[in-house]
Amino acid sequence: MSEIDIRLMTVDDVDKVYEVEKVSFTAPWTKESFFNELTNNYFAVYHVVEYEGQIIGYCGMWLVLDESQVTNIAILPEFRGRGWGEKLLVAVMNTARKRGASIMSLEVRVSNESAQNLYKKLGFQPGGIRKNYYSDNQEDALVMWVNL
Ligand SMILES: CC(C)(COP(=O)(O)OP(=O)(O)OC[C@H]1O[C@@H](n2cnc3c(N)ncnc32)[C@H](O)[C@@H]1OP(=O)(O)O)[C@@H](O)C(=O)NCCC(=O)NCCS
Repeated sequence: MSEIDIRLMTVDDVDKVYEVEKVSFTAPWTKESFFNELTNNYFAVYHVVEYEGQIIGYCGMWLVLDESQVTNIAILPEFRGRGWGEKLLVAVMNTARKRGASIMSLEVRVSNESAQNLYKKLGFQPGGIRKNYYSDNQEDALVMWVNL
């Protein structure tokens, strides 16, 4: 039996996911944006990670025909480094593949080495750079992609 459960996110999870979001990103999404993703975006698929009944991480993607794009992935700081972010992303890649995606892409801050290492470990390759992609500090984004 696994220590963690990974399942699809519902609107009841928004408050808890927002707690993960707030402590994980310098420019966090709002609760409303998560709510909108789940209720108004037909292409959005969100997963959460539960440990002992508590949501400790989440990952979102958009799935359009054969292409999937990760919007965000985060694990609560105190639960990082246990392999759970990797398990989460593997689960998300499996869902994308099962639902017909053949490619997955994402953007990551050029300074975010831990996330880039995770993506490389799962086969993502660097694509291009999007200049000044992040509006909070004008940081560049590295685009990464993998064949599923
Ligand atoms: C990125 C993140 C989700 C990784 O989650 P995690 O559960 O800590 O990662 P894991 O323990 O599953 O690690 C998997 C791999 O990621 C890489 N990695 C994770 N943390 C790392 C660190 N501190 N330094 C370097 N590489 C790291 C390693 O390749 C690791 O594999 P290894 O243990 O065999 O070396 C987590 O660090 C996080 O929430 N960060 C803040 C939010 C964020 O930056 N999200 C990405 C936005 S694009």
